[in-house]
Amino acid sequence: MTQDELKDAVAAAALDEIRPRLERDSVLGIGTGSTANRFIDRLAALRDDFAGAVASSEASAERLRGHGIEVFELNSVGTVPFYIDGADEVNAHLHLIKGGGGALTREKIVAACAERFICIADASKRVARLGEFPLPVEVIPMARSYVARELVKLGADPVYREGVVTDNGNQIIDCYDFPIDDPVGMEARLNAIVGVVTNGLFAARGADVLLLGTDGGVERLTPQ
Ligand code: 5RP
Repeated sequence: MTQDELKDAVAAAALDEIRPRLERDSVLGIGTGSTANRFIDRLAALRDDFAGAVASSEASAERLRGHGIEVFELNSVGTVPFYIDGADEVNAHLHLIKGGGGALTREKIVAACAERFICIADASKRVARLGEFPLPVEVIPMARSYVARELVKLGADPVYREGVVTDNGNQIIDCYDFPIDDPVGMEARLNAIVGVVTNGLFAARGADVLLLGTDGGVERLTPQ
């Protein structure tokens, strides 16, 4: 199967996962990226069965509205029963690297407000150790050089993602050559650098369920 077919398969599986639990007043948390987009497109068929969604990016909000799905402000919703989103890497504990699409901060906020985080990913995203994919760090623009120097001290090779401004008006540094043995500890250390808004490690709050698209079918995994 192609990677696109695997993404389609996990999007369909996520819809099956939430469908029996949808209520008329449910507001869903929706992620960002090509896998999340496939889920949004499928969710359109159920739009009369739930109230709407909170989006983790302007791009996803626009796509949801395009399907006639109402988009709510997170502050007016509180918690969401499900957050459905892709990932750039996932390990056996369902710790993730996210933010390849630059939406990491809003993704982390919506995930924090979710009762259940369902991660949807094709098999290429599964890793034994996080860090092959460059870890994104969102920074306040004036702090970019300072944060980069601190990242070097932690062993990373930081590269400014030129030309990218996040939905929050900030910039992104990608950490290359940065294998991560302790995702929970590293997430906290990165957050403690002044000027860091968020980092793309989702370990303190990882996924609760992983729907992983493989050639043998969609595997449903929970944290080890
Ligand atoms: C965006 C993300 C995405 O979930 C991640 O980049 C995976 O994207 P895709 O589904 O296109 O492979 O974190 O910020």
